[in-house]
Amino acid sequence: MSCAHVFAPDDGHETAFTIDPAAMTFGRDALSEAGDHARANGCKRVALFTDRRLTALPPVDAVARSLRAAGVDVAVFDEVHVEPTDASFRIAAAFAKEGKFDGFVSVGGGSVIDTCKAAALYATYPDDLLAYVNKPIGEGRPVPGPLPPHVACPTTSGTGSECTGIAVFDCLALHAKTAIASRRLRPTHALVDPTVTRSLPEMVVAASGFDVLCHAIESYTARPFTARAKPSGMAARPLSQGRNPWSDLGSREALRLGGKYLVRAVTDSTDHEAREGLSWAASLAGIAFGNSGVHLPHAMSYSVAGLVRDYRCAGYPAAEALVPHGISVVVNAPSVFRATAIASPSLHLEAAALLGADTRGAGPDDAADILAGELIRVMQRAHVPLGVGALGYGAGDLDALAKGAIVQTRLVENAPIRVDLPTMRSLFERALSYA
Ligand SMILES: [Fe+2]
Repeated sequence: MSCAHVFAPDDGHETAFTIDPAAMTFGRDALSEAGDHARANGCKRVALFTDRRLTALPPVDAVARSLRAAGVDVAVFDEVHVEPTDASFRIAAAFAKEGKFDGFVSVGGGSVIDTCKAAALYATYPDDLLAYVNKPIGEGRPVPGPLPPHVACPTTSGTGSECTGIAVFDCLALHAKTAIASRRLRPTHALVDPTVTRSLPEMVVAASGFDVLCHAIESYTARPFTARAKPSGMAARPLSQGRNPWSDLGSREALRLGGKYLVRAVTDSTDHEAREGLSWAASLAGIAFGNSGVHLPHAMSYSVAGLVRDYRCAGYPAAEALVPHGISVVVNAPSVFRATAIASPSLHLEAAALLGADTRGAGPDDAADILAGELIRVMQRAHVPLGVGALGYGAGDLDALAKGAIVQTRLVENAPIRVDLPTMRSLFERALSYA
């Protein structure tokens, strides 16, 4: 293929990549098709997952009405915890098991969709919670078989969870986030209505928008699939298979749209073009990283979010300390891309140009500063915290942050550079402040 010179395989290394298509309907009024999709998948009684804030809002109403109009019995679970935990996953799984549902529908942000994935998994194949969780925190056991149909309806434009087989949660006892990752967790169909993002608060758009940018840049700069050892067979090919020609397509366009629309979508809630454009970027980035995996900014985000002490963010529940996912990711990103640029300067420069940076006359040695600088500029314009220090962390937290991130093996191994514990600590040190 024409890209062979970019993805040239070495002896003993991977020679092929898998495209797992995310089935999706995108556009205004897409949610009204929920009932048709449930019926087409043979569902007669579904669990509808959402959270307390959303339960009385129009998207949940539209989906529930569509399901009922199609003759599908609906039981609503609205106790999803924003930034879910092992405890909240267990509660959701118990609801899913007791209800004997033949299908699942989720309406919400990444927390809702991830909780629905986990509930469907543990209701279908009950086991200890850590059984299917990524190693080394969990046992990393494969999901034994197919899951019931799941129609995912995102209400934010960021996580891409509707396109991926990943469910992230906070393991409370370990103060660390981790994930379950399996192709079997990918929703059967995504219904994305970009107009539902019109009413989102500014910081929710900012957090989810930076998650989009990081999905795209991390997918685009991930270790290429040809750098992994050849798997023993198709089933052994990991979900985070590395950068590949398919993920590149989504990453590039998501970056271009993110560069054009993110700041506009955050700063002007009446800019419908920007909010809907960002929604499409989120779906494209979700398709990209769902087929490549992300790397260090996400690995680091798990300890940034898991070790939070008292940070609170406007637009999110104020009852407990919480770092929104996209914020916990982007605060690490400039530091990481400064370090990874050496692995693929041209890709880092291209990512910066797609975001809007002027890269004319730039050479390989400029890639690190140009991409990091452009990201910091966008962060400033969107009014998000400029580094992990702004979330309450200091030099005394660097060891704990690094320890929590280095165990995210799936993500750390997908990075284009090799990272050990001291390197991880220095990445956090350089992420303390970009101000
Ligand atoms: Fe993310």
